[in-house]
Formats: sequence, C-alpha cells, structure tokens
Amino acid sequence: MSAKILDGKAIALELRESIRIEVDQQVAKGNKAPGLAVILVGEDPASQVYVRNKKIACEKAGFNDVSMVLPAETTQAELLAKIDELNADDSVHGIIVQLPVPAHIEPEELIERIDPAKDVDGFHPYNMGRLATRLPKMAPCTPHGVMTMLAKTGIQLRGLNAVVVGASNIVGVPMALELLNARATVTVCHSATVDLAQKVSEADLVVVGVGIPMMVKGDWIKEGAIVIDVGINRTEEGRLVGDVEFDVAKEKASWITPVPGGVGPMTIATLLQNTLKAAYSLK
Ligand code: GUN
Repeated sequence: MSAKILDGKAIALELRESIRIEVDQQVAKGNKAPGLAVILVGEDPASQVYVRNKKIACEKAGFNDVSMVLPAETTQAELLAKIDELNADDSVHGIIVQLPVPAHIEPEELIERIDPAKDVDGFHPYNMGRLATRLPKMAPCTPHGVMTMLAKTGIQLRGLNAVVVGASNIVGVPMALELLNARATVTVCHSATVDLAQKVSEADLVVVGVGIPMMVKGDWIKEGAIVIDVGINRTEEGRLVGDVEFDVAKEKASWITPVPGGVGPMTIATLLQNTLKAAYSLK
C-alpha cells in the first residue's frame, strides 16, 4: 500500500481562514481583536523560528500580536511579574511561554501563574486536568491539532489500537488523553518501554513525538496503519525530517503526515483557534 498524505498544511490554512472570518465579524461588531502574547526568553534558534511563524500567523488572522523577546538572564521573578501584568491586561486573551526556557528558569511555576482562561497552550494543570476528566477547555495545541486533522479527514478513532510514542507534557500525554476521549485503546510508550518495535507493529494508529530523527522505522508499521509524525528535526545536511522513517513507512501506512507540512501547521492554527475561543468565550 502507498499511503495517502494527511495534508496538515491545507487543513490548517482552511482553519486559519475561518478564524480570520470570525475575527473580522467580531471586530465589525465592535469587539476587540484577539490578543496573543508570546514570551520568548533567550535565543534558542528553533524557538526563534516558531515565534516568527506564530507572529506571521497572528498578523494574517487579524490578531493583535504581543510577542516579546526577553534576555536569557531574565529572572524567574521578572517573568512572574510579566505574566501578572499580561493576566491583568484585558487586550491580551492568550499568553504562552515558549519552551524550552533557560536552565535557571522553572517553567512549571510560570505556567501555573498564567490565568487558566488565557492559557492557550493548555499546559496549566487546570486545563490538563479538564482534558483528563473529559471536560476539555483549552487543549494543548499539537495534540488537538492532530485530532482536528483526523476529524477533517473523516478518520474514525473509536476502537482503534493507538500507540503514542513519547510521553511529554506538550505532546505524548495530552495526545493519549485526546485519543482516549475519542474511545481509542491507547498505549503510551517512552524511553523505558521494552520492545518498542513490537508495540508499534500492533498499532492501527501511531503518533510519534520524541524529537529523534527517523527513530521509528518504517518496517515497524502495520499494513494499513495511520501514521502521525510530530517530529521536526534538521539533519546535518540541513534537511527537515520527522521522527518516523517516512519513505519506508509510507509504503505500509494507509495515511501518513509529511514533515514538513503535516502536524506543524496544525499546531499554529490550533493556537489561533484557542486564542479566538479565549477572546470571545467560545466553546
Ligand atoms: N515548544 C515546542 N512546542 C511548544 C508549544 O506548543 N508551546 C510552547 N509554549 N512551547 C513549545
């Protein structure tokens, strides 16, 4: 089988267009444009790329972009004070701290300081707890973007054996919760998992988010499985590759996400969607 491509780029574009239309309608009614504050601390090159892309997406969607780049030496106390200021600012509807942060910063304390109603990353324990109790409010962008992409493609998840590779707070854990809420049977694999190849080979749906280039081999994939690759890694030659060995996996899968142009664009579109919800108290 040669897989069909799950075109995240096209689905994200469609979502962003619908968001732009909603913003224009709200602004025409006299409401404020959604305001998104992205806090970047230091100069991590990958984060700089993400933040630039978020800024462009905000501008195209008609959002008020309040990105800020703070020096790597910024203290925890200064960051907490900045979050307090943004929490109190009613032109700001969404606040995110771009991760990773420098080693002297404790990200958990920053995340917990964000007003959960403005936590458009969905990382606050309140929002993670809502997702875990099947009462989602703000769901983390990458896993929720994957769910949107699967739904738009008409893929049914109920009863599937889903294997999530990677157990991070940003991807693996909320992805597992989303899939569980969609009634899939979910296995979460991580660095202590014994015989990962065996686990993956039993999956009807595999989601991989580990940040290791081509870690999941194509011949582990079950014939007809759906493969979602969250990884974006740059090789020594400068090529972007995912966490899955795409060229081999695509010969076995029924659907597969490309890298780039798969999950990445859905993350940003979902961040805009969460900020839109926060701005206008939408469901
Ligand atoms: N770093 C990598 N992905 C993300 C994300 O979704 N949100 C934030 N805040 N930082 C990230």
